[in-house]
Amino acid sequence: MENTEKKTILSGIQPTNNLTLGNYIGAMKNFVNMQDKYQDYTKNYIIVDLHALTVPQVPSELRERTYSMLALYLAVGLDPEKSNIFVQSHITGHTELTWILNTLTGMGQLNRMTQYKDKSAKEGTFINVGLFAYPVLMAADILLYNANLIPIGDDQKQHLELSRDIAEKFNYTYSPTFNIPEAIIPKQGARIMDLQHPENKMSKSAESPKGTIILTEDLNITAKKIKSAVTDSDMEIRYDQSNPEKAGINNLLTIYSTLTDTEISEIEKKYVNSGYGDFKKDLSEIVVETLRPIKEKHDELLKDKKYLDQILKQGAANVQSSAYKLLSKVYKKVGLVAPAR
Ligand code: TRP
Repeated sequence: MENTEKKTILSGIQPTNNLTLGNYIGAMKNFVNMQDKYQDYTKNYIIVDLHALTVPQVPSELRERTYSMLALYLAVGLDPEKSNIFVQSHITGHTELTWILNTLTGMGQLNRMTQYKDKSAKEGTFINVGLFAYPVLMAADILLYNANLIPIGDDQKQHLELSRDIAEKFNYTYSPTFNIPEAIIPKQGARIMDLQHPENKMSKSAESPKGTIILTEDLNITAKKIKSAVTDSDMEIRYDQSNPEKAGINNLLTIYSTLTDTEISEIEKKYVNSGYGDFKKDLSEIVVETLRPIKEKHDELLKDKKYLDQILKQGAANVQSSAYKLLSKVYKKVGLVAPAR
């Protein structure tokens, strides 16, 4: 474990479905903030296309969404000069390291993963091995770069725990090799809730399209969704986490607060004499004006696939040599014969 090496921040983003306002506030905005906050860290943001294959995909849509995801990340302010943005399948070391880590991971450990249990229940009778081994690939994503800090949503905590366990198992079985990665989970705004069912997380796969704001959707629709968000009968713009009745307004206050960088108490003061209608009207403008430039930039970038390919090529080139170095070290430690050169 070379302490002299530059520390690494790493996260993965699935190119599945559409990214939501929840993803923007809970994840994307943080990636951009970290770009400045952690200037002397290496930052790797990986579009995890191989993970996406663990559930059925339409090939042409998967490819388009991979580009769309990259365009969105560039549009929100990820800077390829400061962060390495690349596609998982472009660096073959991810799958190669996965194989080695598979041999150190117990079936029982994977059986306990709640995401696997949920997803396999939805898939019905055909449950593919990839879905089961998903967390091992995620561990490989992290360990291939010996990453230290992993920004994730709290739904990924269990997978990160497993990555730590696998790293420890390798270090113990062979010799110290991997850093034990730590999660960074954003506090406020980590969970933006569904606008219609505020007891559930806003999710790209939600059955409630009216409750979910998609980053690339028509902004008139976005405004309507905010204006028709559920609130409560108490008519007070007040944050109260202990009261499940206020889940809707708590969520709207959280969105307002994170997008404007204003304390919730300030917002409460501002709206002390207003009704929900005025508050939601203002909030819909805030959301729409936040998303407008992002959407415009995204749409423009998406037209230029050559440029996007170039960004991905550069991102992969930046990380390639360190990945292969680590993989060779691992191969050697487990007893594989190094190929003659
Ligand atoms: N499983 C993560 C998710 O669905 C995505 C992911 C893949 C990831 N590899 C990763 C996150 C490595 C952090 C680090 O959100």
